[in-house]
Amino acid sequence: MLVSATEMINKAHEGHYAIGAFNINNMEWIKAILLGCEAKKSPVMLGVSEGAGKYMCGFDTVVAMVKNIHDSLGITVPVALHLDHGTYEGAKAAIAAGFTSVMFDGSHYAFEENLAKSKEMIELAHSKGLSIECEVGGIGGTEDGVTSNGELADPEECATIANLGVDFLAAGIGNIHGKYPADWAGLNFDRLAEIQKSTNGKPLVLHGGSGIPREQVQKAITLGVSKVNVNTECQLVFADATRKYIEAGKDLEGKGYDPRKLLAPGTKAIQDLVEDMVENFFGSAGKAE
Ligand code: 13P
Repeated sequence: MLVSATEMINKAHEGHYAIGAFNINNMEWIKAILLGCEAKKSPVMLGVSEGAGKYMCGFDTVVAMVKNIHDSLGITVPVALHLDHGTYEGAKAAIAAGFTSVMFDGSHYAFEENLAKSKEMIELAHSKGLSIECEVGGIGGTEDGVTSNGELADPEECATIANLGVDFLAAGIGNIHGKYPADWAGLNFDRLAEIQKSTNGKPLVLHGGSGIPREQVQKAITLGVSKVNVNTECQLVFADATRKYIEAGKDLEGKGYDPRKLLAPGTKAIQDLVEDMVENFFGSAGKAE
């Protein structure tokens, strides 16, 4: 059974470790992440962006696929199926489809509108027993080939959204999605500490978890980050392992072109990365025992 993320995140916050929220793209991603977390006895969140949801033929397909893969693999660790960066309409659709956790990202609205919509969505998610994440400020990334340095959320705005009863809060502390530029300024720990204080210790979410130096993420976890989102790093290890397989000509040996063989090294690379991250990076290994 898939679960809400509230309990796993609250336990992580109290225990000063983090839950990995790994984005999924297809069946291979789901299997690799679930098997990796089961092997390490780690709770986990599977993140689904609206784009990836469309790619996987809609939220109903995603829910059915994740539930059935979860059951057929005999997964025993807590697993939450979470909408990543949901729009107002998208969050409602994910809730209706059976997701167990949603993010409503109203950060592109003026603050008053973000506040009103977040309030509505928090009430809706909680009325159905789901956990919910909202976002304050913005998280940078690459747009038109230009990578921004990452915004800093306003601690007072964070406090206002935290007081609505959101379960965990995404707040910019200089983090960005995708690859970090060479001149990236790093995470802003002073701002993180201010936000943790202004929100009275609300569990915080670190987006853009790929490529941040590990000691910075670990320091952020000690300062109140309880969920770390990872997407790009899984994509990079998958692509790298697949390229090596093809460059070695293995797809041309015997039935090496069979997708079950062709996609196996990439899938294993994702599982290995997830196992390494939950054990050596987030500290969630063994927390599902
Ligand atoms: P990365 O792709 O940088 O890991 O970011 C993932 C993320 O934050 C998803 O919301």
